[in-house]
Amino acid sequence: MNDLNRPSILIIGAGNMGASIATGLLAKRWPADQITFCDHKSSRHKALKNAFPGSTIITDPSEMASPAKIILLAVKPYDIESVCQKLSAIDLPTNTLFISLAAGVPINAFQTWLGSQAIIVRCMPNTPAAIGLGMTGLYSHTDTNDADKQLADLILSSTGKTIWVDKETMLDAVTALSGSGPAYLFYLMECLQESGEALGLNSQDSYTLTLQTMLGAAQLAQHQNIDFVTLRANITSKGGTTEQAINCFVHNDMKKTVDSALKAAAQRANEISRSFNRE
Ligand SMILES: NC(=O)c1ccc[n+]([C@@H]2O[C@H](COP(=O)([O-])OP(=O)(O)OC[C@H]3O[C@@H](n4cnc5c(N)ncnc54)[C@H](OP(=O)(O)O)[C@@H]3O)[C@@H](O)[C@H]2O)c1
Repeated sequence: MNDLNRPSILIIGAGNMGASIATGLLAKRWPADQITFCDHKSSRHKALKNAFPGSTIITDPSEMASPAKIILLAVKPYDIESVCQKLSAIDLPTNTLFISLAAGVPINAFQTWLGSQAIIVRCMPNTPAAIGLGMTGLYSHTDTNDADKQLADLILSSTGKTIWVDKETMLDAVTALSGSGPAYLFYLMECLQESGEALGLNSQDSYTLTLQTMLGAAQLAQHQNIDFVTLRANITSKGGTTEQAINCFVHNDMKKTVDSALKAAAQRANEISRSFNRE
């Protein structure tokens, strides 16, 4: 894609996700002068200017010199409505593409705030986006044209991998698996480190063993590109040490625990969505 196909983008909210996406875009050669940040606190503008040289920083969307083709909504869900109200007061072109990162805010809420014809793509990224290893689920209604979907995909894939789901409610499942997932793995790493220490390893060695094992296992799975059951079977010898540990996980019904945890997260995502629902 050449620069002509990398249209102007306004990022509203320059926090963790807004900055991660801008970093990803710049790494993929999106021209800095096509990126505008809207940060309502002018005290942060200097730091933003230093971090993203060549981009434009504004305090309010109404300060845009010309309307951006893409508006990325990267504020917290409880700030979304007031941001949308500001946007609806501006004369934006009807082909503006709105990309929302806000967890749980459904498309029909955006259409109430921005107009029923507004083109909206909802995304659920995760924090490894900050280092280009993110995982994002995307959804848009079927009337969104392919070019806009491709643009949304291009933007989010600058921070890692993307998948599209065909029902909006499936974003709750994405939230439960990959959106919240890094925290589950950090918890597992915490458990492994503590158990290593209980076996007599010092804290630093246990940390290093845990981290490198997690990293190596994920990269091996990606490299070998085979299913997780086979990967596990390949390193579980009959009567060996791994089998003893796996038997313990099975005996304590780890699958049921993980299943309950993801169902609880998906249920919470659904409750949050329903609290915004405007239908
Ligand atoms: N972090 C994640 O793992 C993750 C994963 C998936 C989705 N998301 C979604 O991504 C969105 C952003 O999350 P985040 O973690 O990046 O939050 P964040 O770090 O708090 O960033 C949000 C930024 O928006 C600013 N802001 C608030 N109101 C504004 C306004 N009216 N105009 C301009 N800027 C405004 C905030 O400033 P103040 O702090 O001064 O208010 C803050 O700097 C959320 O909707 C979240 O649901 C995050």
